[in-house]
Amino acid sequence: MTTATLGAPVRQRFHIRPFDAPLGAEVLGLDLTRPLGDEDFARLHQAHLDHHVLVFRDQRITTDQHLQFSRRWGPLQRHVLQQFAWQGHPETLVVSNIVENGQPIGLGDAGVYWHSDLSYKPRPSLGSLLHAQELPAEGGDTLFANQHRAWNGLPAALRQAAAGRRAEHHYLKRYAELQRRSPWRPDLTPEQVAQVPAVAHPVVRTHPESGRQALFVNEHFTTRIVGLPDDESSALLDELTAHATQDRFVYRHRWQPHDLVFWDNRSLQHLATGCPPDQRRRLIRTTVEGDAPI
Ligand code: OGA
Ligand code: MN
Repeated sequence: MTTATLGAPVRQRFHIRPFDAPLGAEVLGLDLTRPLGDEDFARLHQAHLDHHVLVFRDQRITTDQHLQFSRRWGPLQRHVLQQFAWQGHPETLVVSNIVENGQPIGLGDAGVYWHSDLSYKPRPSLGSLLHAQELPAEGGDTLFANQHRAWNGLPAALRQAAAGRRAEHHYLKRYAELQRRSPWRPDLTPEQVAQVPAVAHPVVRTHPESGRQALFVNEHFTTRIVGLPDDESSALLDELTAHATQDRFVYRHRWQPHDLVFWDNRSLQHLATGCPPDQRRRLIRTTVEGDAPI
């Protein structure tokens, strides 16, 4: 009997092509509907650490295959807005502006401020995997900013102000504001509110796998720098977040049909640029749990 008949994964021939950008690479010629062997996985793992965003082109995967591939990277996290999980799959989140029979089918305004997914949890996300299901003809790009470069490029005075500090992150920071912007943001139940108490993380974190330092504050969820008076805290936060998302640190992802994009939430921030409201956009996300930042 050959190993193939035993069902051992066959090695795939695929290319990893870095973008001409501050981060990111595309993976060409890989088929994630097929089982993935350990050597292929190891190549992807290293590429993810090197490039922070991997764009797997043309992945015609089912939600189960998306979940299986995601679990190779670690345990998955459930989003507090469970009403936007894809039918029967609590470890998914539907990101969509589509409203059916007066009901939104997903989170329509996900990521409209710069953020790192689940930075408001004691164990924020390692990375997220977002799969394109329906794309608008216009707009809908996603921006990613390299937070290693942001830290390395920080002016000395700001570095000094940030080093050794901790910052508080809270899911509710902009929730009421988002509800005013969008008619589709649900009220949170007391149980949902209880799931997202404020947490504190270092302002500069050490990536648990690469050992590199990255800035870890964002305008969506970071509420204050611990131990500073309010005015100093908000001035410092504003300076850090404005610095961290400059164009020179950013890759703009223009979605192609069936893209699966896997980004590193420990080394990046990201932003949804939005699309015209009459154009349908629908993606499915899974979220891999990471370490408590140190
Ligand atoms: C997300 C997110 C951005 C986008 O799914 O975590 O921020 O462009 N999405 O949909
Ligand atoms: Mn996000």
